[in-house]
Order: sequence, then C-alpha cells, then structure tokens
Amino acid sequence: MAEASLTGRPAWKALEAHYAKLKGLHLRELFAQDAGRGERLTLEAAGLFLDYSKNRVTDETLKLLVGLAEECGLKAKIDAMFRGDRINVTENRAVLHTALRAPKGAKVMLDGVNVVDEVHAVLGKMATFCAKVRSGEWKGHTGRPIRNVVNVGIGGSDLGPVMAYEALREYSRREMTFRFVSNVDGIDFVEATRDLDPAETLFIISSKTFTTLETMTNAESAREWALKGLGGDKKAVARHFVAVSTNAEKVSEFGIDTANMFGFWDWVGGRYSMDSAIGLSTMLAIGPEKFGEMLAGFHEMDEHFRTAPPASNMPVLMGLLSVWYGNFFGAATTAVLPYEQYLKRFPAYLQQLTMESNGKHVTLDGAEIAYQTSAIYWGEPGTNGQHSFYQLIHQGTKLIPCDFVMFNKALTPLGRHHDILIANVLAQAEALAFGKTADEVRKEGTKEALVAHRVFHGNRPSNMIVAEKLDPRTLGRLVALYEHSVFTQGAIWDIDSFDQWGVELGKALAQRIIPELEGAGEPRLGHDSSTNNLIRRYRGRRR
Ligand code: F6P
Repeated sequence: MAEASLTGRPAWKALEAHYAKLKGLHLRELFAQDAGRGERLTLEAAGLFLDYSKNRVTDETLKLLVGLAEECGLKAKIDAMFRGDRINVTENRAVLHTALRAPKGAKVMLDGVNVVDEVHAVLGKMATFCAKVRSGEWKGHTGRPIRNVVNVGIGGSDLGPVMAYEALREYSRREMTFRFVSNVDGIDFVEATRDLDPAETLFIISSKTFTTLETMTNAESAREWALKGLGGDKKAVARHFVAVSTNAEKVSEFGIDTANMFGFWDWVGGRYSMDSAIGLSTMLAIGPEKFGEMLAGFHEMDEHFRTAPPASNMPVLMGLLSVWYGNFFGAATTAVLPYEQYLKRFPAYLQQLTMESNGKHVTLDGAEIAYQTSAIYWGEPGTNGQHSFYQLIHQGTKLIPCDFVMFNKALTPLGRHHDILIANVLAQAEALAFGKTADEVRKEGTKEALVAHRVFHGNRPSNMIVAEKLDPRTLGRLVALYEHSVFTQGAIWDIDSFDQWGVELGKALAQRIIPELEGAGEPRLGHDSSTNNLIRRYRGRRR
C-alpha cells in the first residue's frame, strides 16, 4: 500500500515520536530558551522575507521535516516538474507553468518543441493587442475605442485574473473599467454589464477547454447583449470578443475569429494559468511592461525553489510546516490573512490553488490514503477579520495556523493608516503566539469570575510574510511561493496535485438535471427520493 509508504517512512515515524515530545511545548518557552529565535528562524528569498519563528518547531523538527522531504524524493520531483516530465499522471500531462515565466531565450523542451519560444510568441501577440486597445487604436464595431473589458471565465479562468486585477489596481489604466463574470447565476452578468455601453465593451471569453457550462452560458448571453446593443450585425462579434483558450475548434464554433484567440497549452493547469494568456485582462489593465515584471517575480521564486537547499527554501519550508500542522497536530484549516486591502481576493484565489490541487484521497498510483491531505484555506484581509472570526483563532478549541502577509510600504499613504495597519498585524501574531496567562489577567485586576474568559492560551502558530510593497513583481513572487508550497505538500503526500477529478460528478449530474427542470412534460426521475422531490417542487414553482 502506498499509504504505508508515507506513514511507514523512518522520517515519518521519527516525526511522530518527536511530535509526542514537543506537542506540550509552548512558544513562550521556545522564545525564552533562545534569545535569537526571532532573528534566526527567518529567511529572505526572491525579495520576500519569511519569519517562521512563531511556529511550534525546534531545530530538530525542521531537521526531521527536511529529512521527510528528502525521503519523499522532493528534489527529484521538483526537477521532474521543471524538466517537463508528465508528472500529472492521471491526465498524462507535463506541468510546466514555470515555463510561462521563463525569460526569452530559455529552453524547456517538450515533445521536441521549445515551449518557452511558444510562450513568448503568445506574450508578444498579447502585448500587440493590449497596446492597440489601450491606445484606442482598436475600435469597436461603431468606431468607438474600448473602455470596458469584461472577462468571462470561472475557476482558474476567473480567480487569477480578478485577484490580479484587484491586487494591481493601483497600476491599472484607471480610465478603463474591468469587470469579471464567472457565476452561471445570471445576476453576475446582469450586474457586471448593466451600466456598460456595448459599443465600448470588449469581452474576453477565457476558458481552457471552451466547454465549461458556466462560461459558455455567460458567453452566449454576452454575445446576445452585445449584438442587441450594436444593432444585431454579427460582424460586431469580431471587434468585441476575443478568446483565451487551448481549444481553437470550439472558439471558432462560437464565432470568434481564431486570429483573436490567445492560446495556451494543456501543460498549464487552470489554477496555474494567471500568468498565461488567461492573464490578458491583467495585461490590458497594467500594460505589457508591468505584466513582464510580474512574470519576472514569478521566475525569481521559481529559481529559488528549484535551486535552494530544502532548509533554506521558502516554499519548501512553508509546505513542510503545513504538513507538520495538518498531519501531526491535526489542524484542518489554514487562515491566510493579508494586511493589504488590494489582496482582498487573494484568499479566494488560494482556495482553488491549494484545495483543487491537494484535496485528494488516493496516491499517484491510486491507493486510498489514510493520512490527511490539503488543509482548508480561507481568510480575509486584515484588519476586517479581527472583528469577526479572530475570536475563534485566539480562544476557540481549534488550532488554526495563520499566514500573515504584510508590506513595509503603503501604495497610497494616508495619514497614520499604514502604521496602524502594521501595528495590528504584528500585534495579532504576537498575541496568538504568546497569549496571556491567568496570572497576567489577575494582575490587571480582573474579577476572578472573569479570569478564565480573559485568558489567552497562546501557542497558536503563524508565519509572517513580509514584502517591500505590493507591485506586479511582488505579486508574482507571492503567488509562486504558494504554488510551490502546494507542490511540496503534494510531493510529500504522493498525490497528483494537477488533476481535478473531484469536480466531474457534480458537473455530469447537473447536465442530467437541466433538461429535467426545463422540459415541458413531467420527466421520469431516476434520482434518489430527496433529489426527485426537490426537482418536482422546483418545477412546480419555477415561474
Ligand atoms: O471545474 C474545475 C475547472 O476545471 C478548473 O480546474 C478550471 O480552472 C475551471 O474549471 C475552468 O475551466 P475552463 O478554463 O476550461 O473553463
């Protein structure tokens, strides 16, 4: 059994024994024993600084975790990914998102083709198109320039673009409006377009497969909306619709000229695609040069991940810490808490990246696994979360490791805001780690009946990720950091981090139910009694 191969490994057994000894140890003691801990357990790489000292680890823990990575063959697995081996075994695909940000002239061969050349050819085509749209040279059907861009896509074809747009808004062309439509709930489309003029609106239909139900439904509504607003001339589609896809046939079936299609490849997973042509809306917003800086940031982190030894490799360390908490402490979730309002969609983006990648129940060779795989990732920007769910992180009964993200500089300084923001993130990490003892509470003069309520046990771990300021390069570094942390975890768990079979069953059932809801005659239903009943009730009330 492959399951036994991980939990039966000497390094795993050693970690179990080590956990039994360490689990009662408090971060207060760890800091008291080592005055230099807060400076020692830090790492600087690819422009990011990671303080991991507030984790429940000793030097021994780190050594054992690195030993586990070595026993699991992490280095060889990293090399295999960068080399273009077909490590997505269930789809028989290479996993080469790192080639999307390789510099011009680099070489990554796949089936006899240097994919980096292909990547740069598409980047060039995107840049030319973006320059035309941004300068007003690209005209809509009625001769007006494009002022509004609507990205239509879902999952990886939405979350990356919308996250990047929000994150890099400060660098975006402010005279242009960017909207993102993903949900098949018609409200998403209606709200996104209600104040837009079709004559000035460009739709980017983003779909790797160009078959996704939500995207194709929204794309059809977009075409109808645009044609209605532009007098019904089908020729208008060519000036108002472009596609980003790997499926040229479906794109042209939809009526988009493949000259207006920006391609990518099956070796780019949807959730790893924001730096491919799927980032067309990002490039339209921030321009090709800034998009290039973002790619350079990704590449810096790729190079660090590929070359740094595990003990000083930031994504490896973060991945190993996740394994430590998930598999040994039994932590079910991880909170990602950016203290930067522009990163408000970053946790949502990470949810797909982490959970679609590592939410798996079998090993690469299909054996059922008994250990935990991906944590549930969630979060909100600080300080908002402090006034809602932080109560549970501080005093609840669950252990929730936190990733804080902070920036030294505010993009648009406003009075004292940034200092206050940063004081809060530092305070939260300190409070979580060290808490407040009953004696300390009593010393404050608290009534005895309230003492227990006001105790903070502390010993709640966190990472602090620090960057200079949020810019395209930093965003690239940050996303690549998480991509590779996800890779590290998947490599330890021996799973395929690059497939997503878990989304298929619901999709197929929905396709079966649609005609049962829409059909004129009473359908013969063959579901369970609950689903049958819900379908009948809905049919009776839907209009
Ligand atoms: O349903 C899951 C998924 O396949 C994701 O992996 C992907 O990012 C999303 O759907 C969208 O797929 P596409 O880009 O092919 O429309």
